[in-house]
Amino acid sequence: ITRQTPYTSLPFILLAGPSGGGKTSLLTLLERGDTAVKTHTSQTAHAVELTVSTDAGARTFREAARDDAPGSHKKFHLVDTPGHGKLRGAAMAQLVGDGKAGKTKTQFGDAAMLRGVLYVLDAATLDDSLADVATYLYEVLLALQKRAGAGRTSRSPNAVHVLIGANKLDLFTALPAAFVRSNLEAELGRIRQSRSKGLLDSGINTEEVGSEEQDSWLGEYGSEKFTFDQMKEFDIQVDVIGGSVLEGNVDKWWDWIGGRI
Ligand code: GTP
Ligand code: MG
Repeated sequence: ITRQTPYTSLPFILLAGPSGGGKTSLLTLLERGDTAVKTHTSQTAHAVELTVSTDAGARTFREAARDDAPGSHKKFHLVDTPGHGKLRGAAMAQLVGDGKAGKTKTQFGDAAMLRGVLYVLDAATLDDSLADVATYLYEVLLALQKRAGAGRTSRSPNAVHVLIGANKLDLFTALPAAFVRSNLEAELGRIRQSRSKGLLDSGINTEEVGSEEQDSWLGEYGSEKFTFDQMKEFDIQVDVIGGSVLEGNVDKWWDWIGGRI
C-alpha cells in the first residue's frame, strides 16, 4: 500500500501591489522586527512562516511573534510577490492556483487557503502612479470576484478580504488613507468604464458578449460609480489603512492579518 502524504498547507496572506510599495520591507519587518534592512526589487514570490496570537488584546506583532508569548498561536504564510509590471503573474497565480485540471495548487500550498490580500502601495507617489496602481488593483479584485463567483456553484471558498496598505505615511507628500481610498475608487471606475467601451466597440454582437461582459465588470453591474462597498456582494471587504514600514507603524495591518487567520 502506498500511503499518500497528507496534503497540508497553511492559511496564507498575499502581499501584492506595485513595485516599490514596501512589500518586502514589510515582510522583513514582520519576520525580523527590523526596519533598517535594505531591500532589492523582488523577482520571484517568496513565503515566510509567521505566527499570530489568537488572543484578543493590543499585542503588537513584535510580542506576538515571540514563541514564548502567552496565549494560543496560529501559524500562517506571508507570501511576498514582485510588483514589477511584467512579473505580476506571480501574485495572480497565488490567487487562483495553477489552474491545471481545476486544481488550486500554488507554489507554497493551496489557493483555497488564501485568507486575505494586503495590497501595499506608496501613498507618497500615488498622484503620479495612480493609473498603474489602480490597474493592478483592478486585476486583483476582478480575480477575487471571479473566484467568489465560481465558488457559488460548488463549495463556496472562504471570504477573502483586501487591505490596501497606504504605506510611507512618514513622508510629508503621503496622501491620507481617506484620499487614497477615494482616488482609487475614482480611477477603478474609469478603468471599468473604458474596458466596457472596448468590448462594445469591438463590434461583437452585444447580446452574445453580454454574460462575458458582465463577468469582467468589477463590482455592481451597470452602476455608474465604482465603490469598494460594491465588492461586498462577492464577500470581499476592502479596507484602506495608512502605515509606515519605515517607522514600524504597521500594528493596524498586523491586527487585520490576525483577524483573517
Ligand atoms: P518590489 O519588490 O519591486 O515589488 O517592491 P516592494 O514592494 O517589495 O518594495 P520594497 O519593500 O523593496 O521597498 C521599496 C523602497 O521603499 C525601499 O527603498 C524601502 O526602504 C522603501 N520603503 C519601504 N517602506 C517605507 C516606508 O514606510 N517609508 C519610507 N519612507 N520608505 C519605505
Ligand atoms: Mg519586493
